[in-house]
Amino acid sequence: MAKVYVFDHPLIQHKLTYIRDKATGTKEFRELVDEVATLMAFEITRDMPLEETEIDTPVSRTKSKILAGKKMGIIPILRAGIGMVDGILKLIPAAKVGHIGLYRDPETLKPIEYYVKLPSDVEERDFIVVDPMLATGGSAVEAINSLKKRGGKHIKFMCLVAAPEGVKALQEAHPDVDIYIAALDEKLNDHGYIVPGLGDAGDRLFGTK
Ligand code: PRP
Ligand code: URA
Repeated sequence: MAKVYVFDHPLIQHKLTYIRDKATGTKEFRELVDEVATLMAFEITRDMPLEETEIDTPVSRTKSKILAGKKMGIIPILRAGIGMVDGILKLIPAAKVGHIGLYRDPETLKPIEYYVKLPSDVEERDFIVVDPMLATGGSAVEAINSLKKRGGKHIKFMCLVAAPEGVKALQEAHPDVDIYIAALDEKLNDHGYIVPGLGDAGDRLFGTK
């Protein structure tokens, strides 16, 4: 069964409060999502493999650690996932970025795929699929189906706010995909919005309605 990690670092929780606040405008919302994505990327990369190298400090020769050079890929679920990409790239600048475009049908809440573009060496990379919201879980499940269908194997899912319903759906559909979140909220409302949540992540990021 996939594990769920809640990143309750004080800086993440502090910034998330302002992200949730409806008084926070588009510019600040975007900046905060970017900052939280960087902080979450720091936590999610804890298990990156290292290898030993030898260097000369000004004082002596020594063995020291560097990243083993595992190839990484970041896959934002369009649109709102885009808001988290630059923040992650600050820490993993060599990662390639693929895109999976999905929107939720407002009536059925089912995801509809409209765009997929992935790195060509998909089978060799470790992927982080990102989206600020995990609500019913339909979009995340479908995006990961799409990535696996094209050869993706080592996948993590990262989001800001998750509903218990979405976590359950993702765990059931993809027991091999660990889930990294900043907050586990209470529930979904009748329109499939996370409560208390932060509203429509895409609209708040891009200033649309
Ligand atoms: C939002 C959000 C997720 C999805 C989550 O996207 O960014 O992708 O809903 O809901 P789910 O877990 O119930 O699938 P939306 O469909 O509003 O598209 P957008 O990012 O283009 O605004
Ligand atoms: N998508 C959003 O942007 N917000 C929600 O609360 C649920 C789905």
